[in-house]
Amino acid sequence: MRIVLRLGGSVLASPINTDLIGKYAKIVQTLQQHNELVVVVGGGNLAREFIDIAKKLCLEEKDQDEIAISISRVFAQLFLKKIGSIGDIKIALTLEDVNNCLNKGKIVVMGGLRPGITTDAVAALVAKHIQANMIIKGTNQDGVYTKDPKKHNDAIKLDTLSYTDLSGILKENKHKAGIHQIVDPEAIKILKNGSIRLIIVNGFNPNNILVAAKGEKIGTKIS
Ligand code: UTP
Repeated sequence: MRIVLRLGGSVLASPINTDLIGKYAKIVQTLQQHNELVVVVGGGNLAREFIDIAKKLCLEEKDQDEIAISISRVFAQLFLKKIGSIGDIKIALTLEDVNNCLNKGKIVVMGGLRPGITTDAVAALVAKHIQANMIIKGTNQDGVYTKDPKKHNDAIKLDTLSYTDLSGILKENKHKAGIHQIVDPEAIKILKNGSIRLIIVNGFNPNNILVAAKGEKIGTKIS
């Protein structure tokens, strides 16, 4: 199978969790024995701190995004170094890089791609480009809820839903630098009419990724 693994900055890097980064290195090692893998790493709190700095400097939105992309790429580079020779020499900066790396039989690791999106949309673009079977997103909650579980006690976790239903749950449907929702609306637009499933799991337990990859019930499955 071809799997895009989207690792939340909120999980690996807010604050930076070297123990978890190490555990994820082992997870991708296990996964790559039977799968082709692209790992997309987010920028987390540090990306948002830099967006705030860019805002204070009155930089425009595109520049704020570009700064945040650089941060996600630093985390991607850190992860790539940690996985060693099963990964490519450099992080992927373009969709063409992704193909070249997969053709070499290596794990692709990357951060952001271009302004106006988040790494969720990067994962979606890559998945579509390489015709991946699934995207697994490791994030800071157990899946998709009917409303924000941090703010509402009566929020209910959903086991499965469609991309259209997911769009209905989201508060914001337009990109803003530093936007943080369970899934980026831009990613939903890309995945909506295709056959790639997206599984959202709690990323603080890296084993959840293996469970999702096996097709077993976990988190929320969107199709
Ligand atoms: P990220 O996608 O890096 O956030 O986007 P994250 O922290 O990993 O997300 P969670 O917490 O795991 O869900 C952070 C910001 O970086 C810019 C955008 O401003 C985005 O809001 N960005 C990222 C881009 O502009 N383009 C990209 O391709 C990626």
